[in-house]
Amino acid sequence: MSKSILRLMEERESTRTAFDPDKKITQKGLNLILEAARWAPTAHNMQNFQILAIDDVELLQKIGEVRSRISETFLKENYQQFSFSRKELARKGVGVLGSMFPPSWRNPSKFHSVTMNTPPRPLSETMQGSPLVLIVVYDPRKRAPASTGDFLGIISLGCVMENIWLAAQSLGISVQIMSIFSSRPAENDLKRILGIPKFMKIAYAMRLGYPGQRKEMKNYLRVRRDMSTFAHSNRWSHLG
Ligand SMILES: Cc1cc2nc3c(=O)[nH]c(=O)nc-3n(C[C@H](O)[C@H](O)[C@H](O)COP(=O)(O)O)c2cc1C
Repeated sequence: MSKSILRLMEERESTRTAFDPDKKITQKGLNLILEAARWAPTAHNMQNFQILAIDDVELLQKIGEVRSRISETFLKENYQQFSFSRKELARKGVGVLGSMFPPSWRNPSKFHSVTMNTPPRPLSETMQGSPLVLIVVYDPRKRAPASTGDFLGIISLGCVMENIWLAAQSLGISVQIMSIFSSRPAENDLKRILGIPKFMKIAYAMRLGYPGQRKEMKNYLRVRRDMSTFAHSNRWSHLG
């Protein structure tokens, strides 16, 4: 592997700051990104994805008005990935900084009341001015051959995600995954607004753009495990 592709992979990151709605992605840029998706590996070459590229301002606004509620399960499982200091996160090498999230998401004793008392929030809070949203959709009736739960089909959608993300990164375009687009009831509202057939499923959405001001992500620390904690030479080795 050449150094440049490894560097691109290292530099690809989740951008959670607002994008400038006036800094559009060009048609040429979008075509390159969709071309990258086109060449993604998929189980049995099923190419089990459809992609809606939404840049129409009115439609983006309509999508932004869709509301979604955080579930208690999400809060509990999200909490399990937290580190409470940069030092702890750096030591662990996995997970995320708890300080990236609102204080009430960091207090398990409040999870129940947070889910009960917080009104559904509009997707515009996640979209943060994005000039382009990609929604990746698949047909759950068609699974990868003999793949329980369509495990291999779903992995294929992840390959599409990575191809898109790396292509965007190579063009200097920032990206954030928005899993919330596939949660109920938001998913149903989105399908209605966008005319997506009822039997299809939204896998995930990605927002693309250019950060408004200088990208400031003070609560963000990207870490990875050491290779020695996941790489086994030949046989499974006990990891200390
Ligand atoms: C399947 C999947 C779903 C994700 N969902 C979200 C999401 O809903 N919101 C978000 O901000 N990041 C999401 N992410 C991004 C991860 O949190 C992120 O990739 C990880 O923390 C590593 O950080 P990095 O992307 O900056 O390297 C998702 C990533 C993947 C692969």
